[in-house]
Amino acid sequence: MPEPTIVLSAQGLQKSFASPAGPLAVLRSVDLVVHAGESVSIRGSSGSGKTTLLQLLGGLDVADAGEANFLLPGRGLVPARKNLGKGVGFVFQNYQLMPELNALENVLLAAQVAGRPAAAAEAQALLESVGLGSRLRHLPAQLSGGECQRVAIARALINRPSVLLADEPTGNLDEATGAEVMRLLLEVVAQRGTALVLVTHSREFAARTDRQWVLSNGVLSPA
Ligand SMILES: Nc1ncnc2c1ncn2[C@@H]1O[C@H](COP(=O)(O)OP(=O)(O)OP(=O)(O)O)[C@@H](O)[C@H]1O
Ligand SMILES: [Mg+2]
Repeated sequence: MPEPTIVLSAQGLQKSFASPAGPLAVLRSVDLVVHAGESVSIRGSSGSGKTTLLQLLGGLDVADAGEANFLLPGRGLVPARKNLGKGVGFVFQNYQLMPELNALENVLLAAQVAGRPAAAAEAQALLESVGLGSRLRHLPAQLSGGECQRVAIARALINRPSVLLADEPTGNLDEATGAEVMRLLLEVVAQRGTALVLVTHSREFAARTDRQWVLSNGVLSPA
C-alpha cells in the first residue's frame, strides 16, 4: 500500500511571547502530521496555545524554532510562513467576514486574492452546498451567526485547500446552531476530501474527528 499523502506537518515548533514577567513559552515542541482527507481535533485549556499553533501551521505567524509545512498541489510540502493564504483555508470563531460584502462577494474575494477571479459559479455552488443558496446576496449583518459561519466555511474552501484549519468554529453559536454547523463542516470536508484540523473545547465534537489530540504544557499529544 502506498503511504498516505501528508498535507500538513510540523516538527519541533516553538513559540514564546514577551510578557512583563519575561518570555512566556507557549509552544515548547510541537510535532504533528496530518494526512490527506483525515480530520483531527485539538483540545486544551484556554491559553494553552491552540490559536497560536493554528496560526503557525497556516503561516499567519512565525515560529521561534521548528518547521511547519503544508501541501501545495504541484509543489509538494512547502514552508507555511512563505506561502500564506495558499494551501490552507481558515475558519475563525468570529467568522471574520467583510461587513460591506455580501455572502457571494465574501467567498469570491478569497478567490480573487488568490488570483482566481473567475470563480463565481464555484462560489455559488459552494454556498449552495452549505445551504445558503437563498442567501447569496445577504450582507453579514443580514445573516444569523450560523449562516455567517457557513459563508466562512465556503470561503475557506473556495481555493480548494488540502487542509482546513478551524479555530473554535462553533464558539460563538448556541448549542443547536453549533451542532448544525459542525455537522455541515464535517460533511463538506468529507465530501471534498479536505483534511481538517479542528480546535474545539467540546469533547463531543472532538470525538467526531478521526484522531484526537490535546495541547498541554506546550506539547501536543494523543488525547
Ligand atoms: N501576540 C501575543 N503577545 C503576547 N502574548 C500572547 C500573544 N498571543 C497569545 N499570547 C499568549 O499566549 C497564550 C496562548 O494563547 P492562545 O490564544 O494561543 O491560547 P488558546 O489555547 O487559543 O486559548 P483559548 O482557548 O482561550 O482561545 C496565552 O497566554 C496568550 O495570552
Ligand atoms: Mg484560541
